[in-house]
Amino acid sequence: MLPYQKKINRRSFIEKSGALAAGAAILPSFVPLPSFAREAGKKKRIALVGTGIRGTTFWGKTVLENYGDIIEFVGLCDINPGRLEFGKKHIGANCPTFTDFHEMMTTTKPDMLIVTTVDATHHEFVVKGLEMGVDVLTEKPMTTDEVKCQQILDAERKSGKKVIVGFNYRYGTQFTGLKELLVQEKVGRITSVDFHWYLNTYHGASYFRRWHGLRNKSGTLLVHKASHHFDLLNWFIDSDPVEVVAYGGLEHYGSNHSFRGDKCRGCQYQEECKFHWDITKDKFLMDLYVANEKHDGYIRDNCLWRDEIDIFDKMAVQIKYANDVQVSYSLTTYSPYEGYRIAFNGMHGRIDSWEGIPWRSDEQINQAKLHAQEMNQNKEAENEEYDEIMVTQNFGDYELVKVPKVRGGHGGGDKRLHDKIFRNPAMEDPLKHSAGSRDGAMAILIGIAARKSIDQGRPIRIEELTDLKPSVKRLD
Ligand SMILES: NC(=O)c1ccc[n+]([C@@H]2O[C@H](COP(=O)([O-])OP(=O)(O)OC[C@H]3O[C@@H](n4cnc5c(N)ncnc54)[C@H](O)[C@@H]3O)[C@@H](O)[C@H]2O)c1
Repeated sequence: MLPYQKKINRRSFIEKSGALAAGAAILPSFVPLPSFAREAGKKKRIALVGTGIRGTTFWGKTVLENYGDIIEFVGLCDINPGRLEFGKKHIGANCPTFTDFHEMMTTTKPDMLIVTTVDATHHEFVVKGLEMGVDVLTEKPMTTDEVKCQQILDAERKSGKKVIVGFNYRYGTQFTGLKELLVQEKVGRITSVDFHWYLNTYHGASYFRRWHGLRNKSGTLLVHKASHHFDLLNWFIDSDPVEVVAYGGLEHYGSNHSFRGDKCRGCQYQEECKFHWDITKDKFLMDLYVANEKHDGYIRDNCLWRDEIDIFDKMAVQIKYANDVQVSYSLTTYSPYEGYRIAFNGMHGRIDSWEGIPWRSDEQINQAKLHAQEMNQNKEAENEEYDEIMVTQNFGDYELVKVPKVRGGHGGGDKRLHDKIFRNPAMEDPLKHSAGSRDGAMAILIGIAARKSIDQGRPIRIEELTDLKPSVKRLD
């Protein structure tokens, strides 16, 4: 048992009824975003390009169900006509569909465009949308290389319209709790951060079955996946990245394996392949992807041992920030469990947090039961699930801060991101959850710099990549 494990008892928990309570204080509120505001009495008219899983579910069906009183879909577009028609049905939209983006935009004249296509194509639609005078919400990553990134920045400056990047992780309760503790300078000035993210053999493997396994589509997981994490780092540290050094390799997936099949369906190796995945058991995925393979040849249950995979499956990145904070980050894609650990080293102590670490989850359950017994006497125990943040002072004690656990929807962040964009874009934003194109750029530029550093074997300076100059204090 680790020394601090012994010290954890129910009195050491900070119940989150004060500044870090689940409700008011830690949940975000927002600054006015006139560009995304809705004209009084009128529904916001939305066009969406990319009717894959993210477009039809999170930005489609969920948005229409929850905000149908204030928004309407006026056009849906995808290059796969079958997926487009299925997507329209799944969303429940009553609008025309298009396989030609330009035609959709000129015919429907939307107020807002949502971009949920393959990562490497985002820039095409973001730039054209801005040029047509429309506000654009794009899924992360904003794009996949520095040239496309510059095109987006230039187009936004010229257009007078706005780009929002869907960074949902920021809005999760645990990350919001961390941000609040950092703003309060609980351990003094932060000097370095350790951040390690573990994708398990299900989630991690899924990237290698799909288009994400090709760097010309996803920009590698340093951009596709880690841009979430780099955005969190930028937001937490509240400064811009200056220089990046990275290492990476592909040792587990792709051509490394001793055998490979055509795809999981009907694969001759399905008995011996630990990663065999039966898509036929999921009707939604069958309807969305398999039924529409004939239109574009996209195989959703592709072999993760195929030779064409050219992304990294292990990545280690060092980042230096303009305010002298230094970060050690890693991403693993074949871990036995899914989770992360993050630690902020400050001048006066350290803030630790984690999720998905098995022995900690067991400890939580035991503590929760203990607490429930004491508090509830004969009553049924309430849901005591929580995430943990540990604040330890140098030469002092520690506090274990309990953040109410919200399962699914990225710690509750997805719903709050939607509310901010659709329901009330004009609310105050004291913790600056809202992310624009500069934030979108700084997150991907770390990933792009890391990719270049691995390819070229040298440190990459962020200012080499676009005309953005790193700032000691993050700019809007
Ligand atoms: N924020 C998050 O947590 C999160 C989660 C999942 C996906 N995403 C992002 O959402 C986006 C979509 O991912 P997905 O999982 O839905 O992928 P997907 O493969 O299911 O869907 C992508 C869709 O884009 C279409 N498409 C590709 N190129 C196109 C083009 N040139 N014109 C029109 N349509 C085109 C494809 O036919 C497909 O229907 C990606 O950028 C991904 O990074 C974000």
